[in-house]
Amino acid sequence: MELKNMEKVLNELLLSAKNDIDNANDISEIDEIRIRYLSRNSELTNIKKNLKNLSNDEKRIIGSLANKISNSIESELKIKHDKLYTRDLNKKLEEEYIDITLPGIGHKYGKLHPLTQTINEITSIFEKMGYSLVKTEDSPEVETEYFNFDMLNVPKDHPARDMQDTFYTNVGKNVVLRSQTSNSQIRAMINKRPPIKIISPGRVYRSEAVSARKNNLFHQIEGLLIDKNITFGDLKGTLNEFIRLYFGSNRKTRFRNSFFPFTEPSAEVDVECIMCNGKGCRVCSGLGWLEVLGAGMVDPNVLGNMNIDTNEYSGFAFGMGVERLAMLKWAIDDIRLFYNNDIRFLKQF
Ligand code: PHE
Repeated sequence: MELKNMEKVLNELLLSAKNDIDNANDISEIDEIRIRYLSRNSELTNIKKNLKNLSNDEKRIIGSLANKISNSIESELKIKHDKLYTRDLNKKLEEEYIDITLPGIGHKYGKLHPLTQTINEITSIFEKMGYSLVKTEDSPEVETEYFNFDMLNVPKDHPARDMQDTFYTNVGKNVVLRSQTSNSQIRAMINKRPPIKIISPGRVYRSEAVSARKNNLFHQIEGLLIDKNITFGDLKGTLNEFIRLYFGSNRKTRFRNSFFPFTEPSAEVDVECIMCNGKGCRVCSGLGWLEVLGAGMVDPNVLGNMNIDTNEYSGFAFGMGVERLAMLKWAIDDIRLFYNNDIRFLKQF
């Protein structure tokens, strides 16, 4: 081949390589183009291999042109490679873009049911006064009439024992769902000799038509204190202090004469209406007072049933409705809200 022709072939190779590089649109094509033009079997390498057959002048001209062309292809390849690489990298970054200024995905924490919160708050007030918390297993919900009524001095013909009021089971004779937490008084006196100072929360059951004010399952908290020289004054002081701590400092209380078979004398305790501060409103039915618990001095018959010497010991007991106390504190007007498990209700507490 004559010189001119060889130069033409080389320049055409360069043009064709540049054209291929221009058209390359994927980084893998860059390698293909390098192989096509610069590998051991490429036309350019062939020309270099054949330099030895040329005259010295031709060798110099063609040799340097061939080198220039390989260098130029090499550098064009590198430029294009870097361009495609940067393009791909930016695309990847764009696809994987994370907006770190977006708010995070918060964890939703569960919390205690408002009734559990109320029970915990009330029992902790009494624990601070030295009362011991009775465990659920020491105060069962499925109970015998013996503990729920008999030992509590409830007469055989008392209306509370009626099937309309109390749920009887078919588990065994005289087995009921307890209608009050007062069974824990008897269980405490069986388990332990005085002094006794317990607080006992739990579920109770009454065969009742369900309404906004009544449910056939609800919760009570029972308290019992038996020791030497316990008077009604101690009971009053204790409950006034409890109401002060639960409802806030300046709540008036009122002890109304009442009756329970297991306490004598008995009282119902009212607190000044938390809605109207005693003026009279819908919640307190215009009375200005809300009934919050029942209480009294433990009846000597009950102490006698438990072989506690009434000459040496006396005591008081009280029982309060958890739902009622929660409803009063949070102004909840329907008891059924506690049992429906509607998240919109529950998450407010
Ligand atoms: N057990 C009574 C009730 O359910 C409340 C009470 C408890 C009253 C203890 C006096 C003493 O109504």
